Amino acid sequence: MKKITISTLLARKQAGEKITALTAYDASFAKLFDEQGTEVLLIGDSLGMVLQGQDSTLPVTTSDIAYHTRAVAAGAKTSFIVADMPFMSYASADQAYENAGTLMAAGASMVKLEGGSWLCDTITGLKQRGVPVCGHLGLTPQSVNVFGGFKVQGRDADKAQQLITDALALEAAGAQMLVLECVPTSLGREVSEKLSIPVIGIGAGVDTDGQILVMHDMLGVSANYMPKFSKNYLSETGDLRKAVTLYLEQVKNGEFPGPEHSFEQ
Ligand code: KIV
Ligand code: NA
Repeated sequence: MKKITISTLLARKQAGEKITALTAYDASFAKLFDEQGTEVLLIGDSLGMVLQGQDSTLPVTTSDIAYHTRAVAAGAKTSFIVADMPFMSYASADQAYENAGTLMAAGASMVKLEGGSWLCDTITGLKQRGVPVCGHLGLTPQSVNVFGGFKVQGRDADKAQQLITDALALEAAGAQMLVLECVPTSLGREVSEKLSIPVIGIGAGVDTDGQILVMHDMLGVSANYMPKFSKNYLSETGDLRKAVTLYLEQVKNGEFPGPEHSFEQ
């Protein structure tokens, strides 16, 4: 198969075809996910929780992400590779340029940043310098201490409107993809409809342009608890490859996430 690019993903959205994504942190899983047809692999800073056993993503460093990005890039042939920029690695535009450069050199094709309109100048600057950017709105885990816990976001009308405004601002600044985490299904649908870039949901309902799960959650092996929006595909299938295939199928045909994995307003 031909290597997936941001143009492939944009065409999926335009065709109304769901985009499939998983986190990956090493070459072996990256190769397996890639061979099963997973379109996007994210080296998430979730690795702080699922690989390092920390209770948040805050301790993760750019060199941690770079290390795992090199491994994933070595294992994947076709999948589009996105790397998370860790907590405080993009506090200023100059920091963002330097750290994004490290992740792109490690094998990423796009970097992901958490936050709203305050990031616009950084996003524009990264894109001008050849670094495609994925935004991340809703429950942004790097801000867990501001939120006071891992909570569903955008439930009241004001917050929902603010999130839509931020999403449109990120797109206007040059973001080429958006991850939307832990918001009501209706808000996931509205953001996906309003934006022309692909919107990948996690706990954002079935109507986003694609879905992503943390691989450890999808396989039911997370050191931490299992979030409501995730599903254990390994226990359902009893086989690693079948688990991945079933997840990809259920994303493509809109069977996942069901109402039991989604949030109402
Ligand atoms: O770090 C991560 O794995 C993520 C996904 C949950 C979107 O940001
Ligand atoms: Na992340």
